[in-house]
Amino acid sequence: MTNTDFSVQSFKGGFDNNFSYIVTCMRTGAEIIIDAAIELENIKPFFKSSPSAIFVTHTHRDHIAYIGSYINNFPEINIVGHPESKNNFDNNKFIPVSDGSKMKIGNLKIKAIFTPGHYFDSICYLVENILFTGDTLFVGRTGRTISAGSDINNLYDSVYNKIFKLPGDTYIYPGHDYGEVPSIKIEENRKISDLLQAENKLDFIDKMDKYEKNRKIGS
Ligand SMILES: [Fe+2]
Repeated sequence: MTNTDFSVQSFKGGFDNNFSYIVTCMRTGAEIIIDAAIELENIKPFFKSSPSAIFVTHTHRDHIAYIGSYINNFPEINIVGHPESKNNFDNNKFIPVSDGSKMKIGNLKIKAIFTPGHYFDSICYLVENILFTGDTLFVGRTGRTISAGSDINNLYDSVYNKIFKLPGDTYIYPGHDYGEVPSIKIEENRKISDLLQAENKLDFIDKMDKYEKNRKIGS
């Protein structure tokens, strides 16, 4: 039994088909934002209340691009993220979480799952049957590991040993619109992507290597 009626509104824009989300507890009206990747004016008409926090999936520039304007507009807002990325934010507003941390937004429970790999401070946030995956997992593939702060071994562990241990009917809501559809169930995602069908870590590294090589030819 659940008493956690909630809504998720998706917004696309920003640097590269980024997604930001508003998550609302329908019982209490409490609201949070996942990533400040979209200009505030595009989202503002859709708030039902003053959002209490921005949950940061990782601190790549495009995902925190507009955080300053959100803070100016909502002075009470907090920033939730990885302890090692606190220097990106005003100390008074920053709430560091740890792996497995559980928080509440109104009646809604939200759980932080650390998923390093695409970036050292990547976090996925689980609300009921929805996982906000940032750049760790997209529709059709994982995030890439080409930037400083990336680690392919960690990415494998995060995707295969953490995300894939969740129920297969969990929906992922990623940080960019890179797939055929904006969101997908984990089990469906694994069916459509070779990168998500690795037999082990070495196989994953090999598949990623091939993916990057094909990508260069294609672009
Ligand atoms: Fe990223």
